[in-house]
Amino acid sequence: MNTAVYPGSFDPITNGHLDIIHRASSLVDKLYVAVLINNRKKYMFTASEKVSFIQKSIEGSNNIEVVAYNGLLVDFCKKVDAKAIFKGLRAVTDFETEVQMALINKRLEPDIETLLLVSAEDYSFISSSIIKEVAFYGGDITDLVPPHVKEAILEKWRRQK
Ligand code: PNS
Repeated sequence: MNTAVYPGSFDPITNGHLDIIHRASSLVDKLYVAVLINNRKKYMFTASEKVSFIQKSIEGSNNIEVVAYNGLLVDFCKKVDAKAIFKGLRAVTDFETEVQMALINKRLEPDIETLLLVSAEDYSFISSSIIKEVAFYGGDITDLVPPHVKEAILEKWRRQK
């Protein structure tokens, strides 16, 4: 069985992530969407909130499993016997970080390959952080995240204001 992992912070899931999830899952028998911890970021949502947002966004897809994992990505890959990691590449600004992560993962686990999927043009400019910022100042994020995610972001900001 061809198994791959699509890891990320997903704080929260965006339509750009969902595009990558659907494209990656069409290339393998089983795709794990792994909610991991990026120590360089501060999060708005808990891991279990993020997992449930993703699960709700992919209802009906039968070869995708969403899990939270606290540890190294390559250890998660070994645990689920995945030989490939999918990442999305939006713009040239992503390139450096993605190559750095791919190389460290390769150093840690040479048998696991990182595959970079170029983001759909429509989503090449969006990120979870920019969406949260736009929503904070009252901008419309309707086309950028699923409806339940939009509601969750607005609710968080309402509580903080
Ligand atoms: O969505 P992000 O923040 O770009 O995802 C980065 C993430 C979470 C995939 C990365 O930080 C990660 O793999 N974290 C788990 C710990 C790990 O394996 N670190 C070494 C590889 S960067």
